[in-house]
Amino acid sequence: MNSTSAAEVLPIQENAPKAMKIARPSHNIIGKSPSIRQVFTMVEKVCDTDTTVLVLGESGTGKELIAQALHNCGSRRGKMFVPVNCGAIPAELLESELFGHEKGAFTHALRTRIGRFEMADGGTVFLDEIAEMSPVLQVKLLRVLQEKKFERVGGTKTIASDFRVIAATNRDLEEEVRKGTFREDLFYRLTVIPIESPPLRERKSDIPLLVDAFFKRFCSAKQRQLHGISQEAMDRLINYEWPGNVRELENTIERMVILASGEEITIEDLPPRLLDQPLSHPCEAVINEIPDSGFCLSEVIADYERKLIIQALGQTEWVKNRAAKLLKVNRTTLLEKMKRHGIVKQP
Ligand SMILES: Nc1ncnc2c1ncn2[C@@H]1O[C@H](COP(=O)(O)OP(=O)(O)OP(=O)(O)O)[C@@H](O)[C@H]1O
Ligand SMILES: [Mg+2]
Repeated sequence: MNSTSAAEVLPIQENAPKAMKIARPSHNIIGKSPSIRQVFTMVEKVCDTDTTVLVLGESGTGKELIAQALHNCGSRRGKMFVPVNCGAIPAELLESELFGHEKGAFTHALRTRIGRFEMADGGTVFLDEIAEMSPVLQVKLLRVLQEKKFERVGGTKTIASDFRVIAATNRDLEEEVRKGTFREDLFYRLTVIPIESPPLRERKSDIPLLVDAFFKRFCSAKQRQLHGISQEAMDRLINYEWPGNVRELENTIERMVILASGEEITIEDLPPRLLDQPLSHPCEAVINEIPDSGFCLSEVIADYERKLIIQALGQTEWVKNRAAKLLKVNRTTLLEKMKRHGIVKQP
């Protein structure tokens, strides 16, 4: 998946002379909502530093994508990005996986093997699901973060490696510290720079963009010649709360592209769970009351704008010149806004 629009590409380095301006390598994070823009800003600010970053957020929100963006957009991009899923590797193996081991260190250690910290010399180690790390290993990780030096399991030689650590979790680490399952000193070491990956339900204005990108990708990968997605189906996709976040959306689009019966994806093709959820109108909530939990002003305004454009188009039988006149905007502005909101005429 390649990013295409200006907002998806990190800005050009500001101090470079004009003729030599070089765009930073782009990343694959799709989105234009205010909350994802904050993520882009953070990535841009910290990608060239060596500081440890902790990426927080619910499952499927794109934490690994953010970690890759930090690596690919920064000065370490020429070296390795080494992911380690701390939750998937058994505790007794994780130590040798991270630090490596010497021949004969344990029964099956037939050869010396370098670990992920050594492998990532000059690059980045991505410690995913960091909350799952055992207390013993947490102590060792703290030391290696402070000293960038360690010994292989069963070894005595001290090894130095210049790696950057990016960690991620979908757990509330502060709560884990309170419960005593996560070391407080390690927590502070990791949270020098926290980046929050926002849930999809809080950035619904990204849904049309993501749907469009996934739709194109899967149509091409599955060699399906579909025309698009009906407005009604798009409304349902925007309305759904996406507990599984972008991963759930991606899987849903893949499934629909494969199974769609007509030339276009319609509500008939949507999984039933998307149709069970009552349609909500966030803009009405604005008029009635602001919920106790608050809301993102720019998201609500974007929703309201979308609704008014659809209303104007409906009133003018989709004659865009007339709809633009009704809304007192240029035709091109209307077209741009329709594109941004993923508004297409229903068959
Ligand atoms: N903003 C985005 N733009 C494009 N694709 C995205 C975006 N966010 C997530 N994805 C896609 O969604 C899927 C899940 O993303 P990712 O694995 O980074 O999530 P995660 O937060 O690490 O999830 P988990 O906590 O379950 O490991 C991936 O296929 C990823 O490419
Ligand atoms: Mg992940």
